[in-house]
Amino acid sequence: MDYAEVNLDDVEGVATIDTAGMLGALERFPQQVREAIEIGRAPAELPDAADLRAVVVLGMGGSGISGDVVGSLAADSLGVPMSTVKGYRLPGFVDENTLVFAVSYSGNTEETLGCVEEALGRGATVVAVTSGGRLAEIAGERDLPLFQVPGGLQPRAALGYLFVPVLSALERIGLVHGLLEELGAACEMLDERVQEYGVVTPLDDNPAKRLARDLVGFLPVIYGSEGPLAVAALRWKAQFNENSKVPAFYNWFPELNHNETVGWNHLEDIGSRCHLIVLREQDERPRVARRIEITLDLIKDDVGHITHVFARGSSRVERLLDLVCFGDHTSVFLALALGQDPTPVTRIEEFKRRLAEQS
Ligand code: PA5
Repeated sequence: MDYAEVNLDDVEGVATIDTAGMLGALERFPQQVREAIEIGRAPAELPDAADLRAVVVLGMGGSGISGDVVGSLAADSLGVPMSTVKGYRLPGFVDENTLVFAVSYSGNTEETLGCVEEALGRGATVVAVTSGGRLAEIAGERDLPLFQVPGGLQPRAALGYLFVPVLSALERIGLVHGLLEELGAACEMLDERVQEYGVVTPLDDNPAKRLARDLVGFLPVIYGSEGPLAVAALRWKAQFNENSKVPAFYNWFPELNHNETVGWNHLEDIGSRCHLIVLREQDERPRVARRIEITLDLIKDDVGHITHVFARGSSRVERLLDLVCFGDHTSVFLALALGQDPTPVTRIEEFKRRLAEQS
C-alpha cells in the first residue's frame, strides 16, 4: 500500500484497517484506570510492611512494564528496594521478607511462572495480577492474594489493569503514599487527552497524528531521562514495535551520554533514517536540560529528525500517563499510516508456539 493513500482523518477508512479496535481500547484507557482502582481495593491478605525488606515485580513485555511504571513513580519515597525481574532468574535476595508481585496478563508466561514457583519455595509472599491462565490457578491452589483483571485485551492494552493493583497494594500496606490520589486526579486529565489524541480529532489539531505522519519511513529512537520518563521511552519503543511493527530503540539521560552519544558518528545512511523523539518535562533538572541541549547539538547532523515532546500534567503520575497516552496513539496512527492492523502480534504468537513445541 502507498502510505500516502491512508488518510488518518478518514474515521471509517481507518476502522477498516484497525479491525480489532485498538483505537477504541486506547479511548477506554481512563475508564480502565478507574476500574483498576476498584480492582485494587478488592479484599486481599497482604503482608505487614514492617516485615518487608524488598519488593519485586515479575513480568515480561506488556505485563513487566507495570513494575517499571510503579517502581519509577515510587522510587523517591519507597523505604525498601524495589526491582522488576524480566526473565527466568530470581535474584538471590528474594526470601520470606520479600513481597513479590507476579504480573502476567495471560497468566501463562513461562519466565514469570518459573520465578513464582521459586519465590514460593523461598517463602516470599506472592501476589498475582492476571486475567486468568496458570497463574490464576496457582493463586487458587496456594491461596495467594489475587487481583483478577478482565481478559480479552492485548497485554499492552491492559496497562492500567496491570500496574494499578500493584500500586494500590503498596499503598494499602503503607509502603507508598499519595500516588493513588494522583492517579484518581490523572483520570480526568486522561479523559481530555484521549479526545485530543483520538481518531475524531483532525490531523491539524492532533499532535499524535502529526507525529505519526512525520515518522513514516523513519526508525523511531526515543530518549527519556532517568525515572518515569525513561519508562515512558520504553513504552513508546515497545508500542512502536508491537502496534506499528517497526524497529524502535530507546535510551535515557544521563546514561546515554556515557556511550550512545558517540555511536551516531558512523553509518550516516542509518542515522539519517532515524527520527529522534526526546521526552521532556517543563521543570526537568537543569543539568538534564543542559545535557539534552549539548547532546542534540553534537548529534543534530547525524539523525534525520528531532522532535521534542513535553509531558503535560501537574503530578508525576499525570506526566507519565500523558506521555503513555500520546505514545500509544502515535504508535497506532503510525501503524494505520503504514496500512498495518495495530492489534495482531503474529510473531510473538508464532514465537511462543514454537518455543512451546520444544518444552
Ligand atoms: O505485548 C505482548 O503481547 C507481550 O509483550 C506480552 O505482554 C508478553 O509476552 C508477556 O505475556 P503476558 O503479558 O501474557 O504475561
